[in-house]
Amino acid sequence: MLPTLGTTENLATNFYFPFERNTLSAYLDILIFNTTMILDAAARNFQPFSITRLLTTCFGSGNGEKACILIDLPDPRDIKNFKFLEDETLSIQNYGHEVFYKGFKDGALEAMNWTGGEIFAYRETGGSNLDMEDFCCDPHGKEMSLDRDIYSNYDIILTVSTFSATAPLTAKCKEFGFRGATLHGLNQIILDTGLSVDYDLVSEEAEGLRLGLTQADRFEIDFQVEGEVYTLILHTNGQEAQKSHGLCPPGKPDVANLPAGEVYFVPESAEGVFPFKYSEETIGLLHVKEGRIYKSQFVYGDYAEIEAHNQRLVDDPMIGAIGELGFGTQVLPFSGRDIQDEKILGTIHVATGRDDHLGGKITPDLFKEHKNASHDDVLYAPHKTPEIRLPEARMVKDGKSTVLIRNYKPTEFMVACLETHASVEA
Ligand SMILES: [Fe+2]
Repeated sequence: MLPTLGTTENLATNFYFPFERNTLSAYLDILIFNTTMILDAAARNFQPFSITRLLTTCFGSGNGEKACILIDLPDPRDIKNFKFLEDETLSIQNYGHEVFYKGFKDGALEAMNWTGGEIFAYRETGGSNLDMEDFCCDPHGKEMSLDRDIYSNYDIILTVSTFSATAPLTAKCKEFGFRGATLHGLNQIILDTGLSVDYDLVSEEAEGLRLGLTQADRFEIDFQVEGEVYTLILHTNGQEAQKSHGLCPPGKPDVANLPAGEVYFVPESAEGVFPFKYSEETIGLLHVKEGRIYKSQFVYGDYAEIEAHNQRLVDDPMIGAIGELGFGTQVLPFSGRDIQDEKILGTIHVATGRDDHLGGKITPDLFKEHKNASHDDVLYAPHKTPEIRLPEARMVKDGKSTVLIRNYKPTEFMVACLETHASVEA
């Protein structure tokens, strides 16, 4: 008797299917793009997290460098006797303590040929990339200064915090000569995936994409909301593309973002319209000219949020400055935290505010108030902005338009760029 072809659900039971779903997905990627790169995060095998593998790849072999860990706390005095560990809301700082502080004590410091291993807390800044207060504390309750006691005394500083400290620490590392990494928003998914990859390979792939995008004239991004398409144009005018690749070798003060993996620009100008998700319920359209957002237009949700944004744009026009355009380069699962999710291939982020840490000219002194001088990434990714579609992102270079992303998926061009330097990975 012939098998009955019924609903799609029973097809799998009626026929022998030689692949696991993830394997099939990876196989289809190869067929479609003729690529050896696995484009489905679920089909990747991540090695178990190893603190020494991560730190050796990122910072190179140790040579007696003095290393420490910084965490942010609502009250830095709560690091005394590790009181903050009792607060379940401080899970990020808990990871800083468990993974890095205890990891150092459990042999990683010695294995790295580093010294120190202390942990300190500074006051939570309340915003992404805002400058930090100088005051900090150690677990004995000693009150200290970041400039005098930490930046001047340590060669390697790992910062595990709620709010990103990349911009202020990038400025400080040039002044004091240390190297470091910022790991804001650390969670278990990030530890198991984005921090468990081979950063030599991530660096090679990022360089492949950087070479593909460098010296572009402009980027055009189409967004679709409520059936309408809006386009944001970002002018890069032949600028060299930059990369965040996680490697911070000896010899040059620098701060790596971890997880890393992106190619980015500091646009020279921008114009057009792009959607912004204020909260789960509220979407506005941001209107841009001459590189700055000058107004937000209500689409749906809470009108008060749009009004408040418009008021802030009037009070301090610098908060509307477009400071970055970034493209993720890694195949990783979504973690719910922007530090990893903006590094995922197929996503795009546009940032507003200070961009001095990226080589831009928007420094905190240009803002009316200290609290406005943040760098806020606006990430477009399917899990974060499902209301916003991304039909196409294009690069215009040498008079030719090339599609980079369609519906949050990289095009063959983008994958080929990443593979330029990449070896086969399983
Ligand atoms: Fe970025």
